Order: sequence, then structure tokens, then C-alpha cells
Amino acid sequence: MSLPGPIDPPARLLMGPGPITAHPRVLQAMSAQLVGQYDPYMTAAMGEVQELYRGVFDTANAHTLLVDATARGAIEAALVSLVSPGDRVLVPIMGRFGHLLAEIAGRCGAEVHTVEAPWGEVVPLEAIAAAMERARPRVLAVVHGDTSTTMMQPFDGLRELCDRYDCLLYADVTATLGGNPFPVDAWGVDAATAGLQKCLGGPSGSAPATFSPRAVEVIEGRRSIEAGIREAGDPATAHPIRSNYFDLAMIFDYWGPRRLNHHTEATTMLYGARECARLVLEEGLGHYQGRHALHGEAMAAGLEGMGLRVYGDPAHKMANVVAVEIPEEVDGEAVRSALLADFGIEIGTSFGPLAGRVWRIGTMGWNARKDAVLTTLAALEAVLRYQGYGVPAGGGVDAAYDAYAGAGVAA
Ligand SMILES: Cc1ncc(COP(=O)(O)O)c(C=O)c1O
Repeated sequence: MSLPGPIDPPARLLMGPGPITAHPRVLQAMSAQLVGQYDPYMTAAMGEVQELYRGVFDTANAHTLLVDATARGAIEAALVSLVSPGDRVLVPIMGRFGHLLAEIAGRCGAEVHTVEAPWGEVVPLEAIAAAMERARPRVLAVVHGDTSTTMMQPFDGLRELCDRYDCLLYADVTATLGGNPFPVDAWGVDAATAGLQKCLGGPSGSAPATFSPRAVEVIEGRRSIEAGIREAGDPATAHPIRSNYFDLAMIFDYWGPRRLNHHTEATTMLYGARECARLVLEEGLGHYQGRHALHGEAMAAGLEGMGLRVYGDPAHKMANVVAVEIPEEVDGEAVRSALLADFGIEIGTSFGPLAGRVWRIGTMGWNARKDAVLTTLAALEAVLRYQGYGVPAGGGVDAAYDAYAGAGVAA
């Protein structure tokens, strides 16, 4: 085998549904040298990360930390730690990631109930209420922004429903945290998990997560410390949480004063996650979210200005990613390939019933920027025209310019 060269990726502007181009400051933080797992610098940095993510999640939850995994891993950690085999879990489904929650809950041994909305819509509160009455779940597991359809499920009324049925409220905020309001405490959410590679502007591989005292009580009730690190007085139950790696009771002890040696914290990912949160809070959470709304609206306006149709219920669109219908006469994959090959710009398609029917274009994290929006629109227009699909010359960029002007941002 000939030795491959050093990593030298091509220049890309990642304008898909995530991962997106990482902020240079995040990459810089991730190039810092390692320290030992229990070095005072490391444990202090873990504490700082906890405090920073309390700011990002808008919560006072003591149990706010990173799960060393991609976002899917944090979903598994939350569900496997909260759900005991046989528990009923209700999942509203409006896209691919609702199916994922149901799948993971099922693998945790839950009796899974679902309530579905057609793709492109959200699940009405009344439908969730009726399903709660039928299922009487222990956990209501909700995707906040389902990236597959770009729809954002409203949380109004969910806490009240959970209180009525004595149920925990879990949210997957992988695709929305930072770019859309999600105040964990104000909305009464018991557990929420995210990822870095969307609005937070980092790479995948570390998953910020937060747990309310109510959720912590359930998890602590299942505590079982593995042999080898177990000390006198530590519980060891016959029915521990079904995953060792994602056992949040042990992970809490690792992040807490006990510093239980559960796993080796992913130091470089922690440096990156810390910088992501610093970027959000330095800008201000409200401003950071507002920037996503501004550039997301400009992108959607630009696509419509090109004569394309935005997919889904506009009243429930995520701020940071837009799905646009691929015109019938256009080869969607040929357009995506040309954008990548000729302009270095990546956009996404979708999954399941939407595969090949929509493109998904993100404006998030570092790429929620005017130049990234205008460049993407200009390139998409050029590719569409060159491939023979007539779009009004300059229509996309003009409409985005108008959107910025309407929002008071100088063109
Ligand atoms: C809403 C949502 N949940 C979960 C995931 C899974 O994230 P990861 O690929 O980081 O495991 C994604 C990824 O796109 C997502 O958009």
C-alpha cells in the first residue's frame, strides 16, 4: 500500500443541513495540546463547559454536560438512562428523526407509542394530547427541529400535558439549539440533547446535554456502579441501565465532584465544544438566534426569488435550514454535484419520501452570514441556468438583497 498523504481537504462551503463549515476559532481550540484526564486544567475546563452550556440551554440544571458521541449517541444516553424496559414512551413523528427516537426507545425495551403528522407539517397539540390520554407514557420524546423536513415542533402546552400525566419531557434539539429559541427551564423540558455540527458551528462528535432535577432523580434511581471502580456503599443492581457507555448515572459521577473514572473524556472535542459555546454567549444568545433568523429568511427569499418553491408549512419552519422543492425537469443530484465540483459548495437532499424531491440548504453557525447566503444563491442560479433550467437572472441574489434591506441590513 502506498502511504496516503497528510489530510488536506478541498476548500468547501458547507451549506447543507449539517455538518456545516466549522468556525475557525473552534478548529483553533481543537488544535491545543492534551492535558491529563484529571489535570486541574481539564477538570476546570469541564466545569466551565457545564456553565457555558447552561447559558446555551438557558437552564439552571446542575446536570449539564457533554456526552462523548455524536448527537445520536446523546439521544441513546438520554433514552436508555431514562427508560426502563416496559416503560411506555410516546413519540410524535413528523420526519426521519421522530422515527429515530421511536427506534431507539424500542431498543431500550420501551413500549413505544407514536402519533404522526404528514411530512412537511408538525404534530398538532390536540393529537399529542389525545395520544397521551391513550398511552399514559412515562416519557414524551419529541424532536424539536426535524432536519429531514425542516419543520419545528411547537413546545407550547407540552409541559402542562406532561404534568397532567406525570411524564418526563425529552427533546432532541440537535438541529435547533443556538439557532432557534429553546429555553429549557422556561419550557419545562426534563432532558435535552444536541450536537455541535449545526447551529453551534463545530464538528460532530460531542453532544451537549442537560437534565432537570426530575430527570436526574429517575436516572439516579437506576444507579449501578461497575465492578472495579465500585466502592463500599455503591449500588450494584441486577437490572442496571442497559448501556454501560451511555449510563448517565456513571457519567454524572464522572462530571461531578467524585470524578468517577468512567471513560476518558474526549479532550479535543471538549476544547471544541467549549469554544462553540463561548462563541454563542460572546455574541449573546438572542443575537445569535436572531442572526440565524435573518440569514435563514434571506436564503428562503432568495430561493423564492429564483422561482423555486419552499417546502413545508411556513409557519413551522426552522430558522437555520430551508427545504426547497426540486423542479420536476431538474436532475437534483446533477445540480448538487456541479455545485460541489465547480463552486465548492455543498447542499443536501433529504431522506425517505423526500429523497430527491427537495434540496436542503442550511444557514447556520459560522455560515449564517450574508456572503455565504449570496454566494450560494448566485452559484445555484448559475448551475441551474447552465443545466438548462430557466431562472430569472439575478432573481435569487436580488430577492436576498431585498430581504436584507427589509431587515435593515445594508446591501
Ligand atoms: C434532529 C436530528 N437528530 C439527530 C441527529 C443525529 O445526529 P448525529 O449524526 O450527530 O448522530 C441529526 C443529524 O442530522 C438531526 O438532525
